[in-house]
Amino acid sequence: MKYYIMTLFPEMIENALDTSILARAKSNDLIDFCAVNIRDFSKDKHNKVDDYPYGGGAGMVMQAQPIYDCYMHIVEEVGYRPRTIYLTPWGHPFKQQMAKDFAKEETLVFLCGHYEGVDERVLEEIVTDYVTIGDYVLTGGELPAMVMIDAISRMVPGVLTNADSKETESFEDNLLEHPQYSRPAEWMGKSVPEILLSGDHKKVDMWRYEKSVERTKKYRPDLCDI
Ligand code: ADE
Repeated sequence: MKYYIMTLFPEMIENALDTSILARAKSNDLIDFCAVNIRDFSKDKHNKVDDYPYGGGAGMVMQAQPIYDCYMHIVEEVGYRPRTIYLTPWGHPFKQQMAKDFAKEETLVFLCGHYEGVDERVLEEIVTDYVTIGDYVLTGGELPAMVMIDAISRMVPGVLTNADSKETESFEDNLLEHPQYSRPAEWMGKSVPEILLSGDHKKVDMWRYEKSVERTKKYRPDLCDI
């Protein structure tokens, strides 16, 4: 999986993605990142990439030309037009299933907007998917792109070393993950639930399922009808 991130802040992307599990996945050639600076494609003598909105109003709008040229540079390198995601509060909500679907692609392009938005005409030309990571407004698309890249990369085969860990986590079967405990068996006067020490795997599975249902009902009743 190769990610291209069109951004005005490539160093923000490079610093964040080159750590931990994603860095390991990169050194194992399972994923790769390329942060492309939109400003490098400006034709303005001051390297400007934004201008006032037609119709008036506050703020600036990112112009079409530098974004389009940046995108075409990527398309030439890739050899086809990959799925291209625009991060925006008005997009489709990002979900675990979406992460799984995106993980099947070979290449993904992210467009990170800033200021008051992006000229609609370039969005119409290049964007295949409009995505939001939640109902709040951030200052730019870089953090949402990184959130998505993290969630998608976990779904790329080989990125997580313990294959099982994907099966018992939150959102599998629309349930949240059950509580977890580790040593010691007693801490600050609190004991680990007896059943987890019993060695009876059937009972443990049942207990975990019940706890998942309980947790989902309490915190995310919208996820299930049980
Ligand atoms: N850009 C600004 N806010 C955002 C959000 N919540 N999701 C995706 N992109 C955004």
